[in-house]
Amino acid sequence: MIKCESVSKSYGDVNAVNNVSFEIGKGAFLGLLGPNGAGKTTLMRTMIGLLDPSEGSIFFNNIKMNKDNLEIKEKIGVVTQHINLDKELTINENMIFAAKLYKISKDKINIEIKKVLKLLGLYELKDRKTKKLSGGMKRKLMIAKAIIHNPDFIFLDEPTVGIDVNTRKEIWQFLRHENKKGKTIVLTTHYIEEAEQLCDLVMLMSDGKIFKEDTSKNLINEIGDFKVEYSDTEVFLYQSLEEAKNATKNSDKIFSISRTSLEDVFFYYTNKKVN
Ligand SMILES: Nc1ncnc2c1ncn2[C@@H]1O[C@H](COP(=O)(O)OP(=O)(O)O)[C@@H](O)[C@H]1O
Ligand SMILES: [Mg+2]
Repeated sequence: MIKCESVSKSYGDVNAVNNVSFEIGKGAFLGLLGPNGAGKTTLMRTMIGLLDPSEGSIFFNNIKMNKDNLEIKEKIGVVTQHINLDKELTINENMIFAAKLYKISKDKINIEIKKVLKLLGLYELKDRKTKKLSGGMKRKLMIAKAIIHNPDFIFLDEPTVGIDVNTRKEIWQFLRHENKKGKTIVLTTHYIEEAEQLCDLVMLMSDGKIFKEDTSKNLINEIGDFKVEYSDTEVFLYQSLEEAKNATKNSDKIFSISRTSLEDVFFYYTNKKVN
């Protein structure tokens, strides 16, 4: 399990993460959803021990995290927001580099690399130089590197930004599969669909704070599953389609009825959009 206890992180005057507390169990699939600047990356970097919090503590399986705690860090795989691959190396060479970093024994290296590359559909391309890969393949390679040591916890910072739809779906499929195998996954995203479709727990983040957390379904249900939007941009929320239809029955304005999304939930509480 992972526990954040009153975690804050400031950069000078900027309170990037402000008094965040939560706990997730083994096998959770958590999405931190918020717009740019909400503090998602800072919170994630603090959780994985890349930054020490200004205040508060983080625990993995009841052990306190800090920058030098290798015992926990070995159980964590991290996919950063920005690509950090050696362009001149092949996929396989990049993997060997990662495997050595995690001290995977010589007799196992090739087996483990093959296993992971196959999982991500990269095995056939293993001798291709990284600089020749598409953005989506690079992202998959980052993921492959991050899980070569079979970590219990996988952290991904905006894993599908700028990636084509097909690769995005493949990455989602892969993450679902890992989660089913029992891995605890934490990702940050500003893609509504990613949080809605993938995560079993969504935390809404704005201005360094988590202001709401629940399943996507519950978050939506709490404000109303159906949305009526009038041409003058007025929006009303209803619990059922029937209620929404009834409410618009005598309207002389143009309107649309749709399902409420997490974007609407975010706007409901903050008056701001995620994107
Ligand atoms: N290294 C840094 N130095 C100073 N301010 C930073 C630094 N990193 C992030 N910030 C600021 O902290 C806030 C949160 O940023 P970040 O954690 O990157 O949010 P997100 O990942 O949600 O976009 C922003 O206001 C950002 O400008
Ligand atoms: Mg970020």
